[in-house]
Amino acid sequence: MSDRLRLGLNIDHVATIRNARGGAHPDPARAAAMAYEAGADGLTIHLREDRRHIRDGDLQAIRLASPLPINLEMAATDEMCAIATGFQPHAACIVPEKREERTTEGGLDVAGQHNSIAPIVRELADAGCRVSLFIEPDPVQIAVSEVIGAPVVELHTGRYAELWLQGDEAALNDELDRLQVAAREARARGLEPHAGHGLTYDNVKPIAAIPEIAELNIGHFLIGEAIFTGLPSAVQRMRALMDEARKEAAA
Ligand code: PXP
Repeated sequence: MSDRLRLGLNIDHVATIRNARGGAHPDPARAAAMAYEAGADGLTIHLREDRRHIRDGDLQAIRLASPLPINLEMAATDEMCAIATGFQPHAACIVPEKREERTTEGGLDVAGQHNSIAPIVRELADAGCRVSLFIEPDPVQIAVSEVIGAPVVELHTGRYAELWLQGDEAALNDELDRLQVAAREARARGLEPHAGHGLTYDNVKPIAAIPEIAELNIGHFLIGEAIFTGLPSAVQRMRALMDEARKEAAA
């Protein structure tokens, strides 16, 4: 069980805004420094194959700007593996990636692709990275994640977030149940469960209340909200909601 749920801030979309005009503003490294001051526990960045947000040169700049541990999201490709083993982030999260998608859609099929994923997990672990696999909350995916030696699974909350928006209460409760069961299953297998994708102020509390989950990674909503209230305020409000959810669940 996790006492204090960690908040990893995904700062990719600061780079998305920067890239819309070229140039250097807004600088994701500045967001990295602010995230630390605002009380985030880690930084998440996704170096995509098409470099649509974070770029290679950002990696080192972000590291220099903030003492927070970096979680590098990456596709299971030779190119990304070479970059990650050279950069040696605290954590590396393997995600599925399609060029045409707007964001990471669906979890990694660890069960179907274990032959190609297992050597990458080993290589990253040998380079000192804590490896996580971004998967659907599915017992088979969790079992195979354990077999191939990943210490962490990040449970995809994208479907939960979609159902929240649709207001389909029965389907939402089923999905929440799937996430709760998956988090328990991961812990039972000695894995540390994280969760993320599509989380907002409105939908975060039921996920934050799942006691087995150790970390939430949240990006798009917080960077969007920062436009209106500033990044420190957005991070602090999310942090407060997460803490409240944990306290209420324990009471
Ligand atoms: N976790 C993973 C593995 C992701 O790929 C993403 C999106 O890049 C997130 C968390 C954060 O999702 P969102 O930006 O919707 O908060």
